[in-house]
Formats: sequence, structure tokens, C-alpha cells
Amino acid sequence: MRSMKKILAGAVISVLSVGSLVAAEKVDLAKAEEIVSGRCFLCHGLEGESASPVFPRLAGQHAEYVARQLADFKSGKRKSDTMKPQAEELTPAEMKAIGVFFENKKFGGRPAKDAELLAVGKFVYNRGNQFTGLPSCASCHGPNGLGSPQLPRLAGQHPRYVEDQIKQFNKRERNNDNAVMHTVASKLSELETHAVAEYVATLE
Ligand code: HEC
Ligand code: HEC
Repeated sequence: MRSMKKILAGAVISVLSVGSLVAAEKVDLAKAEEIVSGRCFLCHGLEGESASPVFPRLAGQHAEYVARQLADFKSGKRKSDTMKPQAEELTPAEMKAIGVFFENKKFGGRPAKDAELLAVGKFVYNRGNQFTGLPSCASCHGPNGLGSPQLPRLAGQHPRYVEDQIKQFNKRERNNDNAVMHTVASKLSELETHAVAEYVATLE
């Protein structure tokens, strides 16, 4: 009986690993590059480095997160007049391939312009604010802002985009995901928002 269970467990593991291998092989990176160099690059850059501070950097962002956001732009769950038409005709397979395409790109952080603001941002990021009940960003997004497949990478993101998203979460204009960021954003002061955005931009 026990050995039967072991055999079954082994079979399940091998089926799972074969499954993920197949999934990895199916990603069509050539197609992703064709789409990105056709239009996405205009705003996000060919390497996901982004052309201007208003457009999010996608370099190094998690493939699952990117694919999920694209699906939400397409369905209208995440509202964006700019991104809705961009996502409209993408298939789920293309969204996944585009995610892998950008996840493979590397882009470093940028140096801070204001050392004192940076220090406040670092404190908020790592410690939160115990006086207002703000949790640390690091507790979810990781000590270096690298995120996880469930949580977006923040490292190296444009401060302006980070601030803008925090405002959107706060006003519930962005509520496509699990909405934990609404609670976080509602506790951030104007100073903390600018400072933490300045800090994450320096992370790599
Ligand atoms: C005209 C400029 C423009 C073009 C072209 C464009 N985007 Fe965007 N993209 C934006 C803006 C602006 C946002 C931020 C949306 C918001 O305010 O929530 C965004 C957000 C995103 C996000 C979410 C990023 C995050 O961190 O949550 C992804 C993923 C994305 N775009 C992928 C793409 C892909 C893939 C294409 C091409 C098919 C594309 N974009 C084309 C402007 C553009
Ligand atoms: C309890 C976990 C948690 C904490 C703490 C947290 N976040 Fe988030 N964050 C998330 C999740 C989950 C998302 C994805 C969107 C959502 O769920 O609403 C997200 C999304 C974001 C985004 C959007 C990124 C993008 O690419 O569009 C930004 C910016 C952000 N968080 C900044 C912060 C900052 C700054 C702090 C600290 C002040 C923080 N977060 C604390 C869980 C958290």
C-alpha cells in the first residue's frame, strides 16, 4: 500500500514536470518580438526599458503578472484607455509569450537625485510606518523589490509610474487584482509616496 502511494506520487510529479516543460516550449518568443517591435516598443521600449517616465518599465517584470495585466486590460477589468486597444487582439498564448519576452530582459536601477528623500523612501519600503499601521513594502514585494509571479517587480520602475499607480489604487481606479494595494495606498502620505517611489527606482 505504502509503495503504491510512493509510485503514484512519483507519477504525479513526473506528469507535472513534463507539463511545465511542454508549457515552456510552447511560448513563441519570435511572435512576441514581432508584436513588441511592431507597436509596444513605441512606449515600453524594445528592451522593456520604456521611452518616458509615464510608461512602465517591463524589463524583468514577471511573465505571469504581465500576462494577467494584459488579460485584464483586454477585458476592461483594469481600466486604461491607452492599453485597452493594445491588448484587444492579443491571444492568451501571445500574452504569455510577451510576458516571457520581457521577463528575460535586464534593466538596472537609476541613481537617486535626492539623498534625503531616498532615505525616507528606504525606511518606508523596509519598515512601513508603525504610527499609521502601514505595512512594509518589502514584506510583499521582497527586500530588493523583485516581486514574485503573484506580485509585481518594483525594482527599477519609473517613480512617476509608481506614484501614479498608488494614486489609482487609492481612488480605486485600479482594482483588477486582489485590492490589497488599496489599503496600503490609503495609508501613504504624499511625502511617503514620493519617497518610496524614489527608492524603488534605485533597486535592481
Ligand atoms: C501608446 C503607449 C503604449 C503602447 C503602444 C503600449 N503601452 Fe502598455 N502601457 C502604457 C501605459 C500608459 C500603461 C499604464 C496604464 C495605467 O495607467 O494603468 C501601460 C501598461 C502596460 C502594462 C502593465 C504594466 C504594469 O507594471 O502593471 C503592460 C503589461 C503593458 N502595458 C504591455 C504592453 C504591450 C504588450 C504592448 C504592445 C502590445 C503595449 N503595452 C503597448 C502605454 C502603452
Ligand atoms: C500585503 C502585500 C503588499 C504590500 C504590503 C504592498 N504591496 Fe504593492 N502590490 C501588492 C499586490 C498583490 C499588487 C498587485 C496589484 C493588486 O493586487 O492590487 C501590488 C502592486 C503594486 C504596484 C503596481 C506595480 C505595477 O507594476 O503596476 C505598486 C507601484 C506597488 N504595489 C507599490 C507598493 C508600495 C510602494 C508598497 C509599500 C508602501 C507596497 N506596494 C506594499 C501587494 C502588496
